Amino acid sequence: MNKNSLQFWLRRIGLSAIALLLAIGIHSYLSPLAAQEVLKVGTEPAFPPFEMQAPDGKGLTGFDIDLFRAIGEEANLEIQFQSMPFDGLIPALQSQTINAAISGMTITAERAQTVDFSRPYFQSGLAIAVRKDSKDEIKSFDDLENKKIAVAIGTTGAQEAQKISGAEISTFDNSALALQELSNGRVDAVVNDAPVTLYAIKVGNLNNVEVVGELLTEEYYGIALPKNSPNVEKVDDAIDELLQSGRYRELYQKWFAGEPAKLPLVAPALKGEGAAFSWSQLFRNLFWGALVTIMLTALSVFFGTIGGTLLAVASISDFKPLTWLSRIYIDFFRGTPLLVQIFMIYFGIPSLIQSMGLDFSFNRLLAAVTALSLNSAAYLAEIIRGGIQSIDIGQWEASQSMGMSWRQTMRYVIFPQAFRRMLPPLGNEFITLIKDTSLVAIIGFEELFRQGQLMVATTYRSFAIYTAVALVYLLLTFIASRVFSWLEKRLDPVKRASKQASPKGSAKTGIGESLT
Ligand code: ARG
Repeated sequence: MNKNSLQFWLRRIGLSAIALLLAIGIHSYLSPLAAQEVLKVGTEPAFPPFEMQAPDGKGLTGFDIDLFRAIGEEANLEIQFQSMPFDGLIPALQSQTINAAISGMTITAERAQTVDFSRPYFQSGLAIAVRKDSKDEIKSFDDLENKKIAVAIGTTGAQEAQKISGAEISTFDNSALALQELSNGRVDAVVNDAPVTLYAIKVGNLNNVEVVGELLTEEYYGIALPKNSPNVEKVDDAIDELLQSGRYRELYQKWFAGEPAKLPLVAPALKGEGAAFSWSQLFRNLFWGALVTIMLTALSVFFGTIGGTLLAVASISDFKPLTWLSRIYIDFFRGTPLLVQIFMIYFGIPSLIQSMGLDFSFNRLLAAVTALSLNSAAYLAEIIRGGIQSIDIGQWEASQSMGMSWRQTMRYVIFPQAFRRMLPPLGNEFITLIKDTSLVAIIGFEELFRQGQLMVATTYRSFAIYTAVALVYLLLTFIASRVFSWLEKRLDPVKRASKQASPKGSAKTGIGESLT
């Protein structure tokens, strides 16, 4: 009896112990999953030493990245970084595609209208960078008047540059590109965050660039979060903790020399007022952008058609090397992305020529028109060649037998017919070109799309503005397609013949009748 009850108790204790261990195990396995919330953090990693691609190509690195990882540990949040353009960060926060953004982002009153900021985590300011050979000419902000300035889109540097009277401002996707532009000699100065410019000079290939004058502004970087995000407090507490524990100082000294500046609890900028969005401004900007887009398309179609015709003639000529050359050209320009071609022409060619010791730089308009024309020439060549070759050989023979020369045959017999057949694909190409002009925004060309981007960068109304931009493109392509179908109808010999036959315009005449 006693033995039995002892066994009973032993078994009970054993089972309970196992159950307890299991429970602890499951709990400790599940609890980090349950408690560790995932935070998607947006960043634009072309802003060293704050955020950049790690040298081994694996992941991101930089002061901001380290700091946010530490915040994640402190606040028990799992951090997932997501790279995106700087001017896309605030829209992404608004749409909650990301839960936070760390990107050397200055706390400004305008931004604070659409997103919430953490407490300031870094003191920064804008600086002017110039080429060493012009440092006697530009020493301060006032010397920037009427100069060519490069800035990064949507940044405080871009805003500051707007204040310079008579300056010609080019906007790039990030400050690395803007600094490259300065180094290549196409602009006179760059207005950018001082620590970033100084770092680029220190480690980059910018040995001909220098920072001049005093800092233009005092700015504080903050972590941006969606409005009323529950994480603001967690992030703030974590930053406090890192500041107090000395971990912040450690991180600071890993990336910068000296002691970190004392940080205020609230950025001074938050006492100001933000810029407002206005529809009339939007329409005005889009109107100018549309004019630039139309001009770009017209110029590129003009030069593209000349090039395309020459290529088409070359590709059907009997002289073989000419045929091959035009094939190589067409294959290259059709087979590589237009975006890559634009970069090759605008950034690649000048730096190649400069490396040969020559002074050369491309004007933005020239580069844009060159890239678009070279590209569309390849497509147009194929359309023109196809059109000409689609005309039956019998027509050549007939014309020849009537004693017409090659030129006469081409001009009066072949081309008019071929042209009509080319119209539908030409229409397609034209519409494609209108849309493709938006790609030159990447080299800072202020056409329609760029105008929209620039407005989003200051007002953060991404949906309204991009919808308006899309509608303007739609309007342009719609007009183009109407013009082409009108041309097609006008050049239709059947209709023309029937019109001539009965001037009162019975367009309904059947084919058989009209041909008799
Ligand atoms: N501090 C500047 C601003 O907020 C520039 C920040 C740019 N950051 C970046 N990762 N590209 O406007």
